[in-house]
Amino acid sequence: MNFELKPFGLVGVASEKCDVLVVLVPHGFKPAKDDLSSLVAQTLKSADLEAKAGKLLHLYRPIQSNATRVVLAGIGEGSAKEVRTAVTAAIGGAKTSSLKKLVVAFAAPAREDAVRATVQAVADATYAYTLTKSKPEPRTLTKVSITTTNATEVQATFDRAIAIVAGCEVAKEWANRPANHATPTHLGQAAQELAKASKFSCEVLGPKEVAKLGMGSFMAVAQGSDEPLRFIVLRYDGAAKSKAPTVLIGKGITFDSGGISIKPAGEMDEMKFDMSGAASVLGVFRTLALLKPAINVVGLIASCENMINGKAVKPGDVVTSMSGQTIEILNTDAEGRLVLCDALTYAERFKPIAVVDIATLTGACVVALGGVRSGLFAADEALGQALATAGDHAQDLCWRMPLDDDYADGLKTSFADVANIGGRAGGAVTAAKFLQRFAQKFPWAHLDIAGTAWKSGAAKGATGRPVGLLVEYLMAQAATK
Ligand code: BES
Ligand code: MN
Ligand code: ZN
Repeated sequence: MNFELKPFGLVGVASEKCDVLVVLVPHGFKPAKDDLSSLVAQTLKSADLEAKAGKLLHLYRPIQSNATRVVLAGIGEGSAKEVRTAVTAAIGGAKTSSLKKLVVAFAAPAREDAVRATVQAVADATYAYTLTKSKPEPRTLTKVSITTTNATEVQATFDRAIAIVAGCEVAKEWANRPANHATPTHLGQAAQELAKASKFSCEVLGPKEVAKLGMGSFMAVAQGSDEPLRFIVLRYDGAAKSKAPTVLIGKGITFDSGGISIKPAGEMDEMKFDMSGAASVLGVFRTLALLKPAINVVGLIASCENMINGKAVKPGDVVTSMSGQTIEILNTDAEGRLVLCDALTYAERFKPIAVVDIATLTGACVVALGGVRSGLFAADEALGQALATAGDHAQDLCWRMPLDDDYADGLKTSFADVANIGGRAGGAVTAAKFLQRFAQKFPWAHLDIAGTAWKSGAAKGATGRPVGLLVEYLMAQAATK
């Protein structure tokens, strides 16, 4: 998709030739003297259009514009959320096969976060999964212009938003792919191809190398599948080698059947999304390559299937993690923490300034926070604050969750150093407490994206979250150096 930002008011927009023109109209809109502005003012005055976010008025070839279709869309006070609602509604109704060129025009100077919201909403509304369709609908929309009189003021935000949606698109695409089209091997190849195109480095380890590293916990999950595991190491070096990196770790379970502790059949297909954390790491790297901030970032992806063959790990089995800690696997469906703990130990070698793991880790987090906010667990106060703030700025929200030591009580066992499950209560927190044992040597945070990385139901599909949050956090780091 080709986005551009133009310094137009409605006067300039009126002469733009396009298939659809969306005019974003705030409360208290003050019309200039041009015809299109007067038209908007009239619709408001007659109450045929309300300036409330989500309210629309559709026009066909009005003489005041060169567009085939014009959608007047209320945006209320012009906040990011309102603009997102408005743009999504406007494009939802206007999306047809003949939509090639789209113009979204701010009728009054746009706020920075509103520009970002517009880019995100357009990208979200026009993304289409096609890989496994024999006759995919062609993607006709090639050009999107956003216009506002204060274009220079919002240019930097606009550029960043474009880079973020490119990253979100990578994340969505990989998370959406069915498990037989997104195996650990495929993910490894995707990382390598991305690295080549974007000039960052990538190393992909297989079963032999991982065994040599002593990742006994990760290997225990992988051993139940015929698909070989992959451990992916990405490096973006935007600063001097001497600068300590931030490490991002993605859970890359390409399919989670639950293993011997098998999941119920209903909606089990959704467990193809269990590599959304890994997909978001790939997405962030795509964006980093575009924005080129002066920081160092390492991406680690622990990828395998959680399946059931004759060699599959059994409830009660005890394995030794790379850290040396032994783990009693009481439930093979609590596999995410088993792959992440070895990646956390691996992260130590980078002497990182911070480590953030991203995982569709627990159903309990979905119960707690639903699809609105990701669960944020941070042992380090400054890191927790920075991530929460980044989420607010990116409109990719998260919510701070507790890490009291009492939550770890249920993980005690007589047969190993730690068990991989506690009780049912507080499940998202016990999972985080398990991970925390392996994250003692650096500032660490964990994002549970089980509820936010994808939507179920009719609009089933990946959301690209939390690429926006992570990029915002990294860019803030680059800004303070
Ligand atoms: N991948 C799941 C978590 C999940 C569940 C994500 C539902 C999205 C929707 C994870 O591996 C898992 O199965 N967790 C178990 C842990 C339990 C066995 C302690 C869960 O949440 O039920
Ligand atoms: Mn599971
Ligand atoms: Zn899982």
